[in-house]
Amino acid sequence: MSKVILKLDNINKTFPGTKALNNVSIDLAEGEILAIIGENGAGKSTLMKVLMGLYKSDSGEIYLDDERVEIQSPYHALQIGIGMVPQELNLIPELTVAENIFLGHEIKKNGLSIIDWKKTRIEAIKFIEQLNVDININEKISNLSAALQQIVSIARLIAHGSRILILDEPTASLTKNESESLFETIEILQKQGKSIIYISHHLEEIKRLCHRVVIMRDGSVVTENQVENISINEMIFAMTNRVIDQGSKQIRQYSDETVLEVNNYSRAGEFNNISFELKRGEILGIAGLVGSGRTELIETIYGLKKPDEGTLKLFGEEVTFKDTYEALNNGLGLVPEERRYHGIFPVLSVSDNLIMPSLKQNSHSGLIINYPKIKKNVEELIEKLLIKTPSDKTPILNLSGGNQQKVILARWIAQGANILFLDEPTRGIDVNAKQEIYKLIFELADNGVSIILISSELEEVIKLSDRIMVMFNGQKKGIIDSVQNVTEDDILSVALN
Ligand SMILES: Nc1ncnc2c1ncn2[C@@H]1O[C@H](COP(=O)(O)OP(=O)(O)OP(=O)(O)O)[C@@H](O)[C@H]1O
Ligand SMILES: [Mg+2]
Repeated sequence: MSKVILKLDNINKTFPGTKALNNVSIDLAEGEILAIIGENGAGKSTLMKVLMGLYKSDSGEIYLDDERVEIQSPYHALQIGIGMVPQELNLIPELTVAENIFLGHEIKKNGLSIIDWKKTRIEAIKFIEQLNVDININEKISNLSAALQQIVSIARLIAHGSRILILDEPTASLTKNESESLFETIEILQKQGKSIIYISHHLEEIKRLCHRVVIMRDGSVVTENQVENISINEMIFAMTNRVIDQGSKQIRQYSDETVLEVNNYSRAGEFNNISFELKRGEILGIAGLVGSGRTELIETIYGLKKPDEGTLKLFGEEVTFKDTYEALNNGLGLVPEERRYHGIFPVLSVSDNLIMPSLKQNSHSGLIINYPKIKKNVEELIEKLLIKTPSDKTPILNLSGGNQQKVILARWIAQGANILFLDEPTRGIDVNAKQEIYKLIFELADNGVSIILISSELEEVIKLSDRIMVMFNGQKKGIIDSVQNVTEDDILSVALN
């Protein structure tokens, strides 16, 4: 192994009610791509936050090039060459690529406090070219795809002199192709001698990209290995300490009663002339690349946006939802894609976050809140979805990313919607909890709930859906009725024909 440049030694961190890190020791070598994996709440992000100086560990030491360092803040970490691309990117959408790359690190004209824009652009081009991607440095960040935004975030860290890069679930919202181009960028950096710590729940990515893998469970490192010496099933077993039944495709029965009918729905620039029906108890998958208009379509049905054209029928009657409140009152539930922006009330408890839209169902005659009922419902859901939390009273903000996702999903289950829109329901969720969520989705549908599912993981769409509508560039390209033996290639060929 080449030279160890970073050493985390016996790190401990306790939060009220949680031992988040338990004697964690990890080495990172120069030019190494190291994966850290583990179930939701295993301690991956906490460890990285300790490294970045966002949290202070209770004990333990960090060595950089064999020298002890006490990292005080992310800014300090960056100064000594450690940069992290956080789960929620912190680029400024209204500024250009070049401006973002040099944000907080502006190139000034000789000794003056005036920014040297010409030089900024020249340098920005240099960093982007180095990463072998095609990005116009004068483009606004908001016009770039999620994948390119990731790459700009990386370029920014490199421009600040990082030699250790931490990526926490960078591909959570990327398609397979986009992920692949990110991997190529990471490999270019690795070849230049940079070291990368890579966190992901997609184990096939670990196989594709990483050299070594450290596996955490309940705050401890349980094993580490060269990636070539460990299979995906062995990784899963180490993470969860059990064998996960990934199940096979089931053929489900559902009623032929139409609950929702969408006719000729259009919104300029987003989707065009979309019609389909949804049956009671059916799981309808919508497959398509990012930017195919899927999210916009369901947001419009749900009343978040207005269609330019088209009609909507609910149980045979034409409806228009003025807003999402009306949709909610008509029995529709939406688990949004960007859960952190649209989904959570950060300082409220897990219980409050869960029960918020269903207070009515959890009160006596809709007036007096029924606390015992809430407690029972909440506890059941915490158990069912394997939500890792010290208690139902813990602020949701203190949960790990994946566990926050589960709370939001549970909210809509608690709410008792008849029609449920799930946009990327398992994003950021670990392998084990994913299977539990699949079971729950099947259970809901078997009980008559109709589900529209969007997922950029085609495997997931295939596994869950009874029918699959394929979209591309805002167009409906077809509906696949018989999904028993459908493959990812079949879906792509419908999308691209
Ligand atoms: N600020 C905090 N206050 C209290 N508890 C916290 C805080 N941050 C994390 N925890 C707890 O520490 C544990 C580890 O969380 P962490 O975010 O490190 O998990 P993770 O491995 O990154 O999970 P995920 O895959 O869901 O992102 C969890 O039980 C979490 O609830
Ligand atoms: Mg995390």
